[in-house]
Amino acid sequence: MLRAAFLFLSRRRLLRRWMETSPVAARLTRRFIAGQRLEDVIAVARRLQLENILSTLDHLGENVTSAGEAAAARVCIEEALDAIAAAGLPSTVSIKLTQFGLDISGSLCRSNVEAVLLKARSIGSRVEIDMESSEYVTRTLQIVEDLHSAHNGLRAVLQAYLYRTADDLRRLNALRVPVRLCKGAYNEPPSVAWPRKHEVNSSYARLARILLDEGEEPAFATHDPRMIDIILEHAARNSRSPSSFEFQMLYGVRRDLQRMLVSHGYRLRLYVPYGDAWYPYFMRRLAERPANAIFILKNLFRH
Ligand code: FDA
Repeated sequence: MLRAAFLFLSRRRLLRRWMETSPVAARLTRRFIAGQRLEDVIAVARRLQLENILSTLDHLGENVTSAGEAAAARVCIEEALDAIAAAGLPSTVSIKLTQFGLDISGSLCRSNVEAVLLKARSIGSRVEIDMESSEYVTRTLQIVEDLHSAHNGLRAVLQAYLYRTADDLRRLNALRVPVRLCKGAYNEPPSVAWPRKHEVNSSYARLARILLDEGEEPAFATHDPRMIDIILEHAARNSRSPSSFEFQMLYGVRRDLQRMLVSHGYRLRLYVPYGDAWYPYFMRRLAERPANAIFILKNLFRH
């Protein structure tokens, strides 16, 4: 119920406008969001590098409605890549295709992504393509597969809660497209996604083994200790070296687990969001764990 309520709130425009311009709200979200400026996220990525943690930078934003806004989103990512190169960071960038114009036209979106992909490749980085709600999956994967065959340098994201993902995973593995596997963060109907948590977990465990066996540079995006155990057991059984796959977690979430993985020599990459359009991202994090709202409220009184 609370999950549905936060996902509902994530789509409220007035609340969003108020939250994103309120200095109090910005202070409270700092645990999960690096800050509003590029310098803020670069400072976080540098700090993580000192702790042996990789990063992927996410300039927050989704669903633009004009070619100009899509071009502006592209420029922000190009600037992020310049800053990554200047700082010599082992960072990638994560983008959402609706931020790059997918709602306007597939070809406009593709050319925006191609521009950042070429830039990322030229500095030895990579572009990770986040997966959005189910209506975008086919179009997102078409662009990913097309650009992968032209240039390489991408990572796709697949969501274990969708019934279709086993087929998508096998196809991407065969094409040698690197994949980040997550459970899925959107509100999907039972016609396309497993409705129950235990079903999503079983699907994740099944897909994780396939990704580890057949995937190119597999990445596992989860904070679930049971999923992490399953992946580590399967990796050990198949004599996989810890550097041949990576875990990915969200900035500010389960820092205890993050430290544990790094101290045991596993590769860990944190997804670090920044920018002023942070409201929908933040609400999805509350939906995943409503206890975060209590954490935020406690901090309100601590400051
Ligand atoms: P689950 O939700 O079962 O949580 C397991 C445990 O993790 C919880 O008991 C709690 O301890 C902890 N936890 C999880 N979320 C937390 C939170 N917000 N705050 C505090 N603790 C939390 N989704 C998507 O649809 N498209 C995408 O492109 C991505 N990309 C992505 C990248 C990365 C790096 C991560 C880590 C996640 C995503 N996701 C995503 C989100 C993902 O689909 C999913 O919603 C969350 O990761 C939560 O799922 P878990 O696997 O962590 O398990």
